[in-house]
Amino acid sequence: MRFFFFVFRNLLVCFFWVIIYFFWVIRGGAARLYLVKIGFAGCNMVVSLVSFKCEQACHHQAVDALHGSVLGADRFSRPSFLFRSGLACVPDLCYVVLDEGKVFGSIRYAPVHICEHDGLMLGPLVVHPFYTERGYGVALMRLTIDLARQKGHKWIFLVGDLSYYTRVGFRFLGEGRIFLPGPVDLHRVLFLELVPGAADDLSGEVKPGHLGRSFFDD
Ligand SMILES: CC(C)(COP(=O)(O)OP(=O)(O)OC[C@H]1O[C@@H](n2cnc3c(N)ncnc32)[C@H](O)[C@@H]1OP(=O)(O)O)[C@@H](O)C(=O)NCCC(=O)NCCS
Repeated sequence: MRFFFFVFRNLLVCFFWVIIYFFWVIRGGAARLYLVKIGFAGCNMVVSLVSFKCEQACHHQAVDALHGSVLGADRFSRPSFLFRSGLACVPDLCYVVLDEGKVFGSIRYAPVHICEHDGLMLGPLVVHPFYTERGYGVALMRLTIDLARQKGHKWIFLVGDLSYYTRVGFRFLGEGRIFLPGPVDLHRVLFLELVPGAADDLSGEVKPGHLGRSFFDD
């Protein structure tokens, strides 16, 4: 079955390349450019076998390698990494995105609480530079945020750029309400309410929560 799929896929790719060649030779000007673009997009669509999966033990090594290559070896000195170190994770919300079985994007969540209000911390969110600007970062967030809402979680926080995370509804709660231990820029501490009003009563220090378990307990 895999073999036939492989043959079919490559025939389709050849078909798109014939279209590119045909119009390159016959046509000229702007029409040629558009048709080449369509041909390339078609090839990409057919070649790409992208899938989103809940992170399993077999993905951990690839995710760690991805973190290393995208965020660098000094990532553990970042305030958000320092805060997360030793935190459990919420396994059913940690997802990876794969291209033909190879992990190129990852999102993880950890349980936290603020004054006995349980919530989630999003991060790290990482997409390999080869695959960026194609919507995978936002897609990973949308998928897992919907799941978190279905599972009854109330709010999510993260440390990141508002201009990016506002795309999925994160916002800054205001000066002086939420604190994190360590040298965190508090203007980058952003919240998303999964239930309307869930962040209304939140104030104080973010602390490790109890809902998750370590990946390494497996
Ligand atoms: C940030 C990151 C996850 C984005 O992944 P992605 O798959 O390219 O994201 P999307 O394709 O969904 O969104 C791309 C859009 O976000 C914008 N964007 C990306 N990073 C941004 C940032 N830090 N601040 C503001 N906008 C950003 C892009 O310019 C692009 O804008 P456009 O849609 O107007 O062209 C990826 O670049 C990455 O892994 N960066 C390094 C790790 C990191 O900084 N992670 C986030 C903190 S944990």
